[in-house]
Amino acid sequence: MNILKLGLCVIATGSFLVGSDVANAEPENLAVCAACHGVDGSGAGYPYVPIIAGTPAAHLEEALFAYQDGARRCVGVPVMCEAVALLNEAQIEELAAYYSALPRVSSEEDYNRKLAAVGKLLHDDLCARCHVLPTDDDVENALGIPLNGQRAAYLRLALGAYLTGDRETLVPIMADKLRELDQGKIDALIHYYASWGPES
Ligand code: HEC
Ligand code: HEC
Repeated sequence: MNILKLGLCVIATGSFLVGSDVANAEPENLAVCAACHGVDGSGAGYPYVPIIAGTPAAHLEEALFAYQDGARRCVGVPVMCEAVALLNEAQIEELAAYYSALPRVSSEEDYNRKLAAVGKLLHDDLCARCHVLPTDDDVENALGIPLNGQRAAYLRLALGAYLTGDRETLVPIMADKLRELDQGKIDALIHYYASWGPES
């Protein structure tokens, strides 16, 4: 290879690396995702679109690979899976890094205090060992994705998908815990998750 060309290549790669080191640098595919998730990861107010701002990158990547390989099927919104199907591994990592670096927000949906209190007991008993608060020091290493503050309609959709098999449950223990739920318990859990905000 001609030395000049090699030199340019190194310079180009070098500036690319510097660019991607800048916190919140916008990935080139961001506009595709932002149409539904927003540039701020809040889900732009669509009820079924999950909040992804401030979710640890490892969890976002795991979810994106699951949509790509079919372990998660986009039953309600097929465009989500179509958008992810086009990405390569580096682009997935870049988008996950971008959204994980944003401040966590909550859906700020109304909830019933009594039901939320019942939901907290259920969560602590059945879910808390894997699903910790978004602000927990250990959130990155927890097995599950943080659920507190997430949109109710998305949580119902996701739980429904595990129960119907449209999503594979990667850990069998979660499948066992989900089988213990009925509609009343799911409602209580959803009220509990809605009761969380970044300041609580
Ligand atoms: C048409 C709207 C739409 C577009 C475009 C879209 N998404 Fe989604 N996204 C959704 C919906 C709806 C879900 C929930 C899908 C499901 O599980 O059935 C979702 C789920 C996700 C999840 C899982 C979150 C969790 O808590 O498990 C991640 C991560 C994600 N999207 C990232 C992206 C990225 C990155 C892009 C761009 C490549 C993108 N999405 C494009 C609507 C969209
Ligand atoms: C043994 C660990 C474990 C337990 C216990 C557990 N989960 Fe999970 N959960 C996971 C993992 C791992 C994932 C991510 C799997 C995937 O990619 O779909 C997950 C994903 C989820 C999701 C999808 C989140 C999202 O943003 O896409 C929901 C909703 C959920 N769990 C609810 C629950 C509830 C409710 C309970 C208690 C009744 C529970 N889980 C118990 C490990 C667990």
